[in-house]
Amino acid sequence: MKYPDRVKIVEVGPRDGLQNEKKTVPTEIKVELIDRLAAAGLPVVEAGSFVSPKWVPQMADTAEVMSRIKRRDGVSYPVLVPNMKGLEAAIAAGVTEVAGFAAATETFSQKNTNCSIAESLRRQESVCRTAIDAGLRVRGYISVVLGCPYEGDVKPDQVADVARHLWDMGCYEISLGDTVGMGTPAKTQKMIEAVCAHVPVEKLGGHFHDTYGQAIANILASMEMGMATFDSSVAGLGGCPYSPGATGNVASEDVLYMLDGMGIETGVDMDTLLDAAEFICMYLDRPTVSRAGLALSLKRRKAA
Ligand code: HMG
Ligand code: MG
Repeated sequence: MKYPDRVKIVEVGPRDGLQNEKKTVPTEIKVELIDRLAAAGLPVVEAGSFVSPKWVPQMADTAEVMSRIKRRDGVSYPVLVPNMKGLEAAIAAGVTEVAGFAAATETFSQKNTNCSIAESLRRQESVCRTAIDAGLRVRGYISVVLGCPYEGDVKPDQVADVARHLWDMGCYEISLGDTVGMGTPAKTQKMIEAVCAHVPVEKLGGHFHDTYGQAIANILASMEMGMATFDSSVAGLGGCPYSPGATGNVASEDVLYMLDGMGIETGVDMDTLLDAAEFICMYLDRPTVSRAGLALSLKRRKAA
């Protein structure tokens, strides 16, 4: 089996992770977390979102976060935007990359963005056109690609159809979100196969929540299909506030442990990543959910 020589890890903990916290995390903690993750060598650190603060109050300070992080050369700090209002705020905050999001099912689209799939794609199209004209890069997310908490099974063609729209409007990469973590490897491969009819496989990212412990297996299955970009979250933080029952993304430490072990390059330093995980877990006052992170942190402590 041929796996990629290099994988891009997109760190989404500061957004996907912290958006789901019950209590709002102070701006300075978010800023320090983002700076630590960038220092670990992560090439992309999703820094927040410009969404309605009524919907996701935890991300209300994204402009402040963006103004205080130490932006490193070569690191991208995308933010999520659902509409033109979000894009305008993102441009005012000096971002160079935004991420739009749509869903593969109508019910999830309504719950997450209060509109139909068609309407969310129309909004994304305006966002894409304006952002690209302003020199920004746009990533596209699709949620519930392997199962929906409201509608259950999701057909690969439903995902492929939304992917085609996002690709045609100029997204440079499409991240396929298993929002509830329901997917298994064979299903993941079937879905990727359908999406690849419209989007080159090297332009796809995998975004696996680990609710059912399948994320690492699904990443391996995706690499077998030629994918080489994966989203993950330090310490396995996160979930989506509109996805009941879903836990966090696959932990960045678990992904890195597997890739390091397979000799696949990422540019990420495990020790610095573990420091970032320990920092945020200490603040949140709970242990990491990363198995590799926990084992490696204990080993480090014993050796110290
Ligand atoms: P709506 O209520 O239909 O919007 O929400 P509206 O246009 O009627 O506006 C309502 C209020 O929000 C107004 O304020 C607007 O100005 C304001 P008011 O007049 O009442 O004071 N507003 C905004 N404020 C700041 N920034 C904005 C913005 N837009 C409107 N951009 C809307 C529609 C899309 C805005 C709302 O549903 C929303 O913000 N949804 C976002 C939900 C969200 O962030 N979910 C989590 C991220 S997605 C995710 O986690 C999945 C992912 O990880 C992949 C995966 O795992 O599947 C990416
Ligand atoms: Mg997510």
